[in-house]
Amino acid sequence: MQATANIVQDHMQNLETKVHPEYKPAPDGSQMKALAWFGAKDVRVVDAPVPTITEPDDVILKVTGTTICGSDLHLYHGEILTMQKGDILGHEFMGIVDKVGPNVTNIKVGQRVVASFQIACGDCHFCKQKLSSFCDWTNNSPLQAKLYGQRDAGFFGYSHITGGFPGGQAEFVRVPKGNVNLLPIPDEVPDEKAIYLSDIIPTSYHAVVDTGVKDGDVVGIWGLGPIGMYAAKWAQLKGASRVIGIDRVPERLAMAKEKLGIETIDFSVHSDVPKKILELFPRGLDVAIDCGTFHEPKTMMHKVQKMMMLETDNPETINEMIVSVRKMGRAGIIAAYSGFANGVNVGALMEKGVRLIGNGQAPVHLYWEELLRDYIMTGKFDPTFILTHRVPIEDMAKLYAAFNQRVAGVEKVFVQTQFSSLPSPGCPKLSRVDEWSSKN
Ligand SMILES: NC(=O)c1ccc[n+]([C@@H]2O[C@H](COP(=O)([O-])OP(=O)(O)OC[C@H]3O[C@@H](n4cnc5c(N)ncnc54)[C@H](O)[C@@H]3O)[C@@H](O)[C@H]2O)c1
Ligand SMILES: [Zn+2]
Ligand SMILES: [Zn+2]
Repeated sequence: MQATANIVQDHMQNLETKVHPEYKPAPDGSQMKALAWFGAKDVRVVDAPVPTITEPDDVILKVTGTTICGSDLHLYHGEILTMQKGDILGHEFMGIVDKVGPNVTNIKVGQRVVASFQIACGDCHFCKQKLSSFCDWTNNSPLQAKLYGQRDAGFFGYSHITGGFPGGQAEFVRVPKGNVNLLPIPDEVPDEKAIYLSDIIPTSYHAVVDTGVKDGDVVGIWGLGPIGMYAAKWAQLKGASRVIGIDRVPERLAMAKEKLGIETIDFSVHSDVPKKILELFPRGLDVAIDCGTFHEPKTMMHKVQKMMMLETDNPETINEMIVSVRKMGRAGIIAAYSGFANGVNVGALMEKGVRLIGNGQAPVHLYWEELLRDYIMTGKFDPTFILTHRVPIEDMAKLYAAFNQRVAGVEKVFVQTQFSSLPSPGCPKLSRVDEWSSKN
């Protein structure tokens, strides 16, 4: 599939962009550690050239913190097309500014900054509204434009259908359009509280705001990974009267109860999730949010269809949400889907007047300043409540396997490099993936 998609894309002409993915190597030939993709379930820590300023708007970061996201698992499973061997992954990272290009005016060498997972141009129709993930000018993929009608922004470390930019699971990274894609972090905010502004904090916030959670709402959250756990917290902060989380990983269900005090449904026990929800809330949920993953079909019907490549994605969670919400309720999809799913319950969608909302790739720039200032710095939202492990970048390949298997209660991980500070008080100490993953 990867090879076919690459051949198709190679035969289409790359779209015009204002930034380019290839970087120049540092003139002294220095090397860095980076996590690269080689095939499904085959990722490796490799030596790669340290990047240098390639375009005048570039910033080069020394990475002080990076991590793995549920979206990286789609790449790990080979579910996102147009991956190429040697692609450097990672889209959630922060660092210290090492070099700036001549056009960079508002970021200085030595500053601590977080990068947004998307690369925005800063000038287009969408960027002017801070809808950075929907930037028109940073993703050269003709395949994406063909499949979706338009292209999203380019993303760091996320295949050639999102622009082919090398990512931040590395010791150094080149950030194109550094004037707009970096957020300076005040000294008093430690790395462990800042890094997730790259992605999961704004993403989960966007899911809740965009799906319209209001005071008094009853909210169901499918998936209690980092996105679901944060979305549940945001729903509480937005005044939800009850939040119910659905998953099957025992440690995640326990964390949701313990840290958030929400009700949970274990779908390995209650396989008919809508039935259970409608027993609890006969009128139905006001809001449902899909924070799960499309590569784990539950039913034989969709396992078979996926295996036979009759569908790329699966509609099970969408259907569960449509049936579980009340008439004229809202269902949001923040989980990343990529292609087609068969058998969507379009009848229930229409007859019940359900508002099904594709939340899109979250526009990080729209929210990150507000989230830092009003929620993280005030302590209203402490991102570290889901942080379970800290590991060195040398362990990144093993971390993919452990995070994929969800072993040893792994929820969110801070990955350190040679440039990282010591762990902050109350945050996980350094450990090795072999130590904790083998105990499971
Ligand atoms: N739209 C965006 O901007 C954006 C950004 C980041 C992540 N994401 C997506 O959000 C999703 C969640 O990310 P994460 O980091 O929390 O991932 P994760 O893989 O750690 O967590 C997903 C959770 O969903 C659960 N799950 C799987 N199938 C389920 C089902 N049928 N019902 C209920 N739960 C189910 C899993 O057990 C797991 O705990 C992923 O799809 C990711 O790609 C989207
Ligand atoms: Zn992500
Ligand atoms: Zn733009």
